[in-house]
Amino acid sequence: MKRKAIYPGSFDPPTNGHLDLIERGSKLFDELVVGVLSNPEKDPLFSVADRRKMLEAMTVDFDNVTVDTFDGLTVDYALRVGASAVLRGIRAISDYEYELQMALMNRKLQPGLETVFMMPAEKYSYLSSRLVREIAQLGGSIDCLVPSLVAQKLREKLDVAHKFADADAREREASGQDTPERKTKPRRKKS
Ligand code: PNS
Repeated sequence: MKRKAIYPGSFDPPTNGHLDLIERGSKLFDELVVGVLSNPEKDPLFSVADRRKMLEAMTVDFDNVTVDTFDGLTVDYALRVGASAVLRGIRAISDYEYELQMALMNRKLQPGLETVFMMPAEKYSYLSSRLVREIAQLGGSIDCLVPSLVAQKLREKLDVAHKFADADAREREASGQDTPERKTKPRRKKS
């Protein structure tokens, strides 16, 4: 019987740590499906379609890895695609509590589904999508943290965001409007 696993996550954006785990998972399982969670509540930086495209490009060399999107429960998704395991990465002890809780809850929901934890290479143990987003937004270098195509996409995305912000500011200035901060009514001095 073929061993098939899903690797679910937000991947906003995918990092070198994710890629490291995908590579390890692809060696352990016959088939690995990277499942990008479509969760509109999270207000992601990248659309699900963009994240899927980036992951597809990153995993093009792995014959047994596919990329997909899903919504709803991870356990239901695993069942739908015929996977018997959920792959998750643990970087540090701080990840453990949340991951254990999720794994045990998934086991409660679907007892036949196993969670397999793998550790990425040590050099990625401090890496997270949230930090990558923050560093990129504040102008720091992310080149060693994400594949080059992701770095490029991040730069494009933030460039567009800056252009929109600049255009908004110019429009406000031209129309004589105050900046949003100054729109608030000045507080009356307490007498
Ligand atoms: O990359 P992330 O954000 O750590 O991934 C979290 C993810 C997608 C694995 C988790 O939020 C999840 O499984 N969401 C789907 C909804 C679900 O099954 N919730 C119950 C988890 S016990």
